[in-house]
Amino acid sequence: MKQNRVVIVTGGGRGIPAAVVKRFSAEGARVAVVDLLLERAQDCVQQVNASGKGQAKAFQCDVRSWDSVQRMVNDVRAAYGPADVLVNAAGSYFQYKLPHETTEEEWDSVVDSNMKGVFLCCKAVLPDMMANGGGRIINFASNAARSVATALGIEYTAAKTGVLGITRHLAKEYAKYNILVNTLAPGPTDVDRVKETTSDEFYAAIPKTIPLGRYAQADEIAAVVEFLASDGASFITGATIDANGGIIMV
Ligand SMILES: NC(=O)c1ccc[n+]([C@@H]2O[C@H](COP(=O)([O-])OP(=O)(O)OC[C@H]3O[C@@H](n4cnc5c(N)ncnc54)[C@H](O)[C@@H]3O)[C@@H](O)[C@H]2O)c1
Repeated sequence: MKQNRVVIVTGGGRGIPAAVVKRFSAEGARVAVVDLLLERAQDCVQQVNASGKGQAKAFQCDVRSWDSVQRMVNDVRAAYGPADVLVNAAGSYFQYKLPHETTEEEWDSVVDSNMKGVFLCCKAVLPDMMANGGGRIINFASNAARSVATALGIEYTAAKTGVLGITRHLAKEYAKYNILVNTLAPGPTDVDRVKETTSDEFYAAIPKTIPLGRYAQADEIAAVVEFLASDGASFITGATIDANGGIIMV
């Protein structure tokens, strides 16, 4: 595997994506920590610097906007060089509502950040990866894409299901360029966003629905991302990898 790879992690400011940043920076990669909220990205970079393991830089970007994504990818290229690995983990969400109560604005925001953003970030890095002999792209879906979301709304189920299609389409089109594209579908993971979007009662009830009987830790999901970007995953493309404690078995 190439040393000091350039890795872009969208949503890198906190939660699972921040754990992904820490994994890659610890292996010597140069990691672009991309977030809508610059302070979150900077906070994650500070943690990397404090750990003394690896390199990371913060970049502000709204993955829903092509202008913003293009600017971010240009800034990362200027700072570190072209991306070898893209991890599309950014996404927003709202508290659960029934579909007929969901507003158009909620639909657009969640679909654009979780699905359109994946397309835009891939679109922006693919030319560099084609020119450089290959790359790895890991797109975040969710167990919601394998069935339906229970804690989040219809817009989240739709967006994450769309990610599976984007991944397969890209995997087929860009295999000839040695660009491997996969989806990771995590199950419930114990991060701030889960506490923010669920009642205390629901938060406590979720582990009872998981065969392994507990939430994932963010680093357990980050380990799968690291694997998908490694030499060991060199024949995997277009796949959906479930890391969900057995909550959905397909
Ligand atoms: N936590 C879980 O249980 C769980 C389960 C399945 C899938 N996922 C997926 O994993 C990924 C990470 O989720 P999480 O819960 O760890 O963290 P999170 O959702 O709290 O954080 C992700 C980061 O994305 C950023 N973000 C939101 N909208 C953005 C935008 N438009 N542009 C750029 N950045 C934006 C946020 O500021 C945040 O720092 C998401 O794609 C999520 O859907 C999470």
